[in-house]
Amino acid sequence: MEENQSIINTGLRGVTIASTRISDVDGVAGRLIYRGYLVQDLAEKAGYEEVVYLLLYENLPDKQQLKEFKKRLAAERFITPEVIEALKACPADALPMDILQAGVALLANGDADVQQQTAEAVDRMAVRLIAKFPVLLAAWERIRTGKTVVEAASDLDHAANFMYMLTGERPDEDLAHFMDVALVLHAEHSFNASTFSARQVASTRAHMYAAVSAAVGSLSGELHGGANVRVMQMLKRIGTKDAVEEYVNTELEAGRVLFGLGHAVYKTDDPRAHILAPMSQKLCRRIGEEHWYEISRELEQKGKAAFKARKGIEIYTNVDFYSASLYYAMGIPIDFFTPVFAVSRVAGWTAHVIEEQFAGAAGKPTLYRPESDYIGDYCGPAECAFVSMDER
Ligand SMILES: CC(C)(COP(=O)(O)OP(=O)(O)OC[C@H]1O[C@@H](n2cnc3c(N)ncnc32)[C@H](O)[C@@H]1OP(=O)(O)O)[C@@H](O)C(=O)NCCC(=O)NCCS
Repeated sequence: MEENQSIINTGLRGVTIASTRISDVDGVAGRLIYRGYLVQDLAEKAGYEEVVYLLLYENLPDKQQLKEFKKRLAAERFITPEVIEALKACPADALPMDILQAGVALLANGDADVQQQTAEAVDRMAVRLIAKFPVLLAAWERIRTGKTVVEAASDLDHAANFMYMLTGERPDEDLAHFMDVALVLHAEHSFNASTFSARQVASTRAHMYAAVSAAVGSLSGELHGGANVRVMQMLKRIGTKDAVEEYVNTELEAGRVLFGLGHAVYKTDDPRAHILAPMSQKLCRRIGEEHWYEISRELEQKGKAAFKARKGIEIYTNVDFYSASLYYAMGIPIDFFTPVFAVSRVAGWTAHVIEEQFAGAAGKPTLYRPESDYIGDYCGPAECAFVSMDER
């Protein structure tokens, strides 16, 4: 077959580009596993730090290993005054995901390990990034709202510390637990768009920060991690349960997207949505605003029915659907929903960068370089004759 006759697979659906030992998404069975473990089991029985350890080091830590790993994370839970000054120079209305992406590049400046491509250096960079994501984002929230930056508390775990640094208040047990579960659920999801971005950059042998900043940019889009912000905006626009049906019909009629519904891989329930829904209900009730949960429920049902009627296809809620009302009830600012996703997913990204660069099951690291089908038919089949400036 000639090169220009090769089949185009827009969006790379169904194309396998590498082997991985990190995770598996079975879109038909609705099953997600991290290094052999069902995500449901991890959400119920393991904390975020345990899951990060599992993703990075391929096995669940024992007590001592977890203690040491938590210590390593705690030691990196800071950003330098230079980075804080750089954040202060940014306009208060800058998008938090842009601040995060720029922040990742700034963090690279202070890390001597970026010049090294050893497994030890890459591991250190991974731990630093995982520890510093919540610090950087919390600092930005404090700075943009004119508040004092809150330093991490030495006695709080990752999820609770994030909430503490963000709000300046220690979260109660429920809040800390729900944040921890949300982080576990978002930590990894095979070759999704942002992970693919990270792996593609890593395949050039660029450093960990370069790969992770590309992933942050990819996650920010509304068809990927940015969907959780759009879900909340949608719920606000709808306002009441009774207005759901009309909203669904209007949006679909106009060819617009219903955020939080549909998935490129899952063709059944996303197992993470099942865990997030009751958490959202509980917290929405707790703040006396259960209507956010109820609108979501109604939207799920009416959205499903409308899809079936219009397109003849089943559609299901994805991870961003109930996480929106959950984060809202937790008091997280709406434009920080996607950053919360990033705080978690950085674990998956770094594990994938390590796998990409240090092979293991993935085989030899290979520079990613797909083909394209040139359709620039400017001068027929021949090249264009160059037109001088005077003749244009
Ligand atoms: C994630 C997403 C991009 C996957 O799209 P996909 O791979 O094309 O999914 P499908 O093949 O199942 O889509 C079938 C059809 O339904 C449409 N569709 C899917 N989800 C939709 C949604 N939420 N709203 C409106 N239309 C949707 C697709 O555009 C496609 O239409 P077409 O047949 O006219 O081309 C899509 O579901 C979407 O845009 N969802 C909303 C954004 C979101 O929540 N993203 C977070 C994902 S975790």
